[in-house]
Amino acid sequence: MLNKKTIEDLTGLKGKKVLVRCDFNVPLRDGVITDENRLVGALPTIKKLMSDGAKVILCSHLGKPKGEPKPELTLAPVAKRLSELLDTDVKFADDANVVGENAKAIAASLQDGEVMLLQNTRYRIEETKYGKDENAADFAKDLAALADNQVFVNDAFGTAHRAHCSNVGVTKFMSENAVGYLMEKEIKFLGNAVNNPQRPFVAILGGAKVSDKINVINNLLEKVDI
Ligand code: 3PG
Repeated sequence: MLNKKTIEDLTGLKGKKVLVRCDFNVPLRDGVITDENRLVGALPTIKKLMSDGAKVILCSHLGKPKGEPKPELTLAPVAKRLSELLDTDVKFADDANVVGENAKAIAASLQDGEVMLLQNTRYRIEETKYGKDENAADFAKDLAALADNQVFVNDAFGTAHRAHCSNVGVTKFMSENAVGYLMEKEIKFLGNAVNNPQRPFVAILGGAKVSDKINVINNLLEKVDI
């Protein structure tokens, strides 16, 4: 059993604002999404919240804009494709400061079951400075306030190794925090694979960001058959 509150444990969501941290860090070529697996993976959580009548506020990072609103790293293509996949208008809040006037106005006008998407969380320099800079929590507070400090759902498994404002900081300012279906699925899968492996246990790692993976490699070395 997962020792975390999950989306299934949340009740009375109708009319409540729910901030959902997704991992929409999708590959783009000339503004076109070339692999939409991460969008498809997020749909069960979003659909569940919509059908519960929540007012759904999605957020994610995309690439590494390092605190600057880089046009090539806008989440606009994601909002467009999500609208198609969900067959509903995902309202895109195109604010360079993420929680700006557009985001506030759209959030305030959301009806039950409607969905909006914020601009790239890494357009804000504070996003990656959580826990390192005392002012960084201001962004976490802004995100939480946008959802009236109500409910936060973390469904960004791909970002779970980061402690940023939009996945860790924000939890300090919300009434309820839970994991979404994608996060739950990945934690269960990984937990079983690592803690109850069928032997021989072989781990194959891929990806470009080797420096991020040293701790994972060291950990796995103690568990795999060598
Ligand atoms: C990923 O694509 O690995 C995740 O979205 C995390 O991205 P990051 O390495 O830029 O934090």
